[in-house]
Amino acid sequence: MAIFITGDTHGDFGRLQPAAFPEQSNLTKEDYLIICGDFGGVWDGGDAEQQWLDWLETRSFTTLFVSGNHENYDLLRNYPISQWHGGLVQAIRPSVLHLMRGQLYNICGKRIFTMGGASSHDIRDGVLEPDAPDYEQKIRQLNAAGALFRVNHRSWWKEELPSEDEYRTAKATLDKAGWDVDYIITHCCPSSIQGTFSGGLYQRDALTDFFDEVQERCKFRYWFFGHYHENMVVEKKFVMLYEQMIRLK
Ligand SMILES: [Fe+2]
Repeated sequence: MAIFITGDTHGDFGRLQPAAFPEQSNLTKEDYLIICGDFGGVWDGGDAEQQWLDWLETRSFTTLFVSGNHENYDLLRNYPISQWHGGLVQAIRPSVLHLMRGQLYNICGKRIFTMGGASSHDIRDGVLEPDAPDYEQKIRQLNAAGALFRVNHRSWWKEELPSEDEYRTAKATLDKAGWDVDYIITHCCPSSIQGTFSGGLYQRDALTDFFDEVQERCKFRYWFFGHYHENMVVEKKFVMLYEQMIRLK
């Protein structure tokens, strides 16, 4: 059994094609590929997207993902929740699973804690309400100005950050685990880690601050995360992934 981990896919699964990921010829559904958020495979619900999800289902391995800030939470919430390997998942396809927030799974004998979500930083010029009377006019102005904005329920969802319930679940899960796990998989990273590489581009928020608490209290071997669209190791135990794919030993 093998576990591979990669960063944001944003609905583009080119790196999972056999030519880019030849190891899959020896894998089975008992082998796992984990995407560290911004999966993007549940985005517009259209035919092309359904075909890509079907394509993922035909892969030899099981695809797992935590949520990012670029997921369609209105669509995602429609998928039923079930128990899997000790934690809650949503099955997008039988072998394409959303690893939910504040969960602990036993995968290949490894205890893996997951907590998706992140703040969007590409909304500097605001989040538009599509039913506002001046929506069309505003969107034209913002597009003409090359502004960074998103549209509520179309390209931005408040659920990109966890709810109070999800924080409570996460703490209860870690309490039960004695704050001792093997790996942590998230989309963003702790505030203190973010501060070492972001040069102020990424602001701290309730989630990155919560992750500071987790990194202080919790024993873990490695913490894998996406979001920042680069590949790098920070302070030895924090592994930022984008297009790179690594295999857990
Ligand atoms: Fe991303």
